[in-house]
Amino acid sequence: MCGIVGYIGKKNCSSFLLDALEKLEYRGYDSAGIAVYNDHKINLIKKKGRISVLRNAVEEDENFDTDDSPFKVGIAHTRWATHGKPSDVNAHPFIGPSGKIAILHNGIIENYIELKKSLKRRNVKFASQTDSEVACALIDTLYDGDFFKAVKDAVNLLEGAFSLCIICADYPNMMIGVKKDTPLIVGYGENENYIASDISAFIGKTKKFCRLGECEIALFKDDSVNFYDFNGKKIKKDVITVDWNIKSSSKDGFDCFTMKEIMEQPSAVRDTITPHIKNSGIDIPELNSLPDDINKIYIVACGSAYHVGALVKYSFEKIAKITTIVDLASEFRYRSPVIDEHTLVIIISQSGETADSLAALRESKNRGAKTLAVVNVVGSSIAAEADYVIYTWAGPEIGVATTKALSAQLSIMYLVVLYISKKRGVISDLAMKKYIQNLLTLPDYILQMLECKDKVFEISKRYMDRDNIFFIGRGIDYAVCREGSLKFKELSYLHSEAYAAGELKHGTISLVEDGTLVIAVLTDKKLFEKTLSNICEVQARGASCFAVVREDKVSEFDVGVDDIITIPKVPSIFLPSLSVIPLQFFAYYSALLHERDIDKPRNLAKSVTVE
Ligand code: M6R
Repeated sequence: MCGIVGYIGKKNCSSFLLDALEKLEYRGYDSAGIAVYNDHKINLIKKKGRISVLRNAVEEDENFDTDDSPFKVGIAHTRWATHGKPSDVNAHPFIGPSGKIAILHNGIIENYIELKKSLKRRNVKFASQTDSEVACALIDTLYDGDFFKAVKDAVNLLEGAFSLCIICADYPNMMIGVKKDTPLIVGYGENENYIASDISAFIGKTKKFCRLGECEIALFKDDSVNFYDFNGKKIKKDVITVDWNIKSSSKDGFDCFTMKEIMEQPSAVRDTITPHIKNSGIDIPELNSLPDDINKIYIVACGSAYHVGALVKYSFEKIAKITTIVDLASEFRYRSPVIDEHTLVIIISQSGETADSLAALRESKNRGAKTLAVVNVVGSSIAAEADYVIYTWAGPEIGVATTKALSAQLSIMYLVVLYISKKRGVISDLAMKKYIQNLLTLPDYILQMLECKDKVFEISKRYMDRDNIFFIGRGIDYAVCREGSLKFKELSYLHSEAYAAGELKHGTISLVEDGTLVIAVLTDKKLFEKTLSNICEVQARGASCFAVVREDKVSEFDVGVDDIITIPKVPSIFLPSLSVIPLQFFAYYSALLHERDIDKPRNLAKSVTVE
């Protein structure tokens, strides 16, 4: 979603801001803009379309970075339209009626209509349809020469979710950041400081960060930063260090981030599990104080992270023998889930900022449940608010479609299953030892699985004219199918549906006809023959079939399918980590063949910070 970045320091401000905006591109956007203090006023350019359009406009403009004041200050934004269509006028930053205040906004201001009416009564004119322009006008009207006070007073009048970044023409050495419900991070550089909606904006500039908490204000003055609450009371904040390097946020020779990240899955899994395996046992100190009387698990997440929950539910039930319910965060938050202090709610999220997941976390805490966050972004909001946090170490994931983060989430969740099984006394030492040994070899199996890449490319070419695909499987394979279908849809923009194989005959099989492509996943030994029968049923109605099958079952695969990819033999709980890979490649190559924007699929955002 929208990306915010701000700079205060002695270097070329607009060049820093434009570079940082490019690093935030992956979040998804439709317009971009920049405002810098220059020669006693604020200069602004905003453009619909790509950052390159904005960069050209800034480079041609003589009013950027000619100022010789000791500190240069500026803000820039990528917008993902919510209120008002993508256009130059609706793009950020906004400048208030006095021409002195410029702001960026992420989030949604819920009382903007009411505020707009009252500002209009004071003859304030509005050019855009956005809620953000209203926030800007509000600060501007409250400004009487005291910049900080105007911002503080305004934020107390705003309702909803908002991260703001503001500069003022009367204060060439100041910048203010405000956070409520959508993320904002301060980065500490050498004689310069930054603010952004996520860490990626500063990779290569600093490893030192501070995440603004709820209802907090960061006041940048010269080369210092101080923090305040919404009452203006000074607060102390901790600095965190994040060791993400430039290589991990560059394409490193690949054509796009998505393929790079698919290929990085072995290391993402290895880096995630290794810190938690010590002396052949599981070590998750983050869970040391988890009470013994947990009797139910809820896994709540969105999109692919939800699929991770759906996949590990099987293991929680089978190995840890504990009731496990998996729910979409957007549904969970508005229901009345039966949870109490004996329930562990696990929120899985790559970004740690997904609005629905964060709301579900808060709802769980209000209902007295214990909460565990499994997140990839250090210090993110979900990590900050959960009772327990375990990080995945996938590194920055730039492709909007998640691949390596999903694999890392799965691997850490296997460990959580085993940890809880041991805590509940339902797993033997021998079984535990075997699982751990196998888990340690999983990165090598994933590496081996990646070799199916070229074969899947050939398969994708054969089916590139199909625009309606079914992914079928049973049990854990059905959960893998749901992820495969989501990946296919979001990358290729073509329709597909995941179906529990046994459910097809209850209605959906009427859609199967000559030329329908059915992708079947068969890794569960017990259910192999059952899914095989379902393959026969769709083939009898003219469907082509591409099957993903475990290696030791291929010889029994006597029904004859059009294409097969085999999965090496690993314990069943780890199979999804392998069977998902051909489906990722299939989605990737289908998108490539249809010339889609693979890293940034249309309409999508990497971090979904609005409802
Ligand atoms: O950052 P999160 O893991 O909370 O994001 C959840 C979903 O938005 C995300 O998994 C989304 O479905 C991906 N684009 C799927 O590839």
